[in-house]
Amino acid sequence: MRNLGYSRIDPAEIDDNLIRLIASDWMLVTAGSREKFNTMTANWGGMGYLWKKPVVFVFVRPERYTYGFTESHDGFTLTFFDEQYRDALNLCGTKSGRDCDKVAETGLTPFFTENGYPAFTEARLVLECRKLYASMLTRDAFTDGRPLREHYSSMDGLHKLYIAEIEKVWIRE
Ligand SMILES: Cc1cc2nc3c(=O)[nH]c(=O)nc-3n(C[C@H](O)[C@H](O)[C@H](O)COP(=O)(O)O)c2cc1C
Repeated sequence: MRNLGYSRIDPAEIDDNLIRLIASDWMLVTAGSREKFNTMTANWGGMGYLWKKPVVFVFVRPERYTYGFTESHDGFTLTFFDEQYRDALNLCGTKSGRDCDKVAETGLTPFFTENGYPAFTEARLVLECRKLYASMLTRDAFTDGRPLREHYSSMDGLHKLYIAEIEKVWIRE
């Protein structure tokens, strides 16, 4: 990663406001292997501290092509970009890797971390995350029905929550 112009920082040194970073800047969730990987845009999620580890919380619907990759691999990356990559993030959030080649269509440049996780050299911030816990959200667990009604029809599947340890954080120099 250092040869790609990144420096490693401690998770506690991430300076960004985390709400803005996730909700407004958006992120790519990328999982898979050198042979095959996929990426999708996400802006539901969080970062925090759990089980004495810095963690991320990510929500992926089973309908996403990316889901097969987050399920079958030990971890994934979260990557964050400057505004100039908004079109790329829009594309990765509206098209499916089942139907198109997101790398070719966005022009993003994939690389693999030492841990074997896929990421993109255009990212200004890269989080390598190792899954600790995964569970489907369930309708009966909502204590307020409004988010359920607003975000899921009665036919819809719910999201799967992944809690993953932030193993390494890389910031563009
Ligand atoms: C701004 C934005 C945020 C999104 N956040 C999420 C999310 O948090 N979880 C999710 O499952 N899908 C989210 N999506 C939808 C996926 O990115 C979208 O369905 C994508 O096409 C899935 O691609 P895939 O089929 O290649 O995995 C979001 C889309 C956009 C545009």
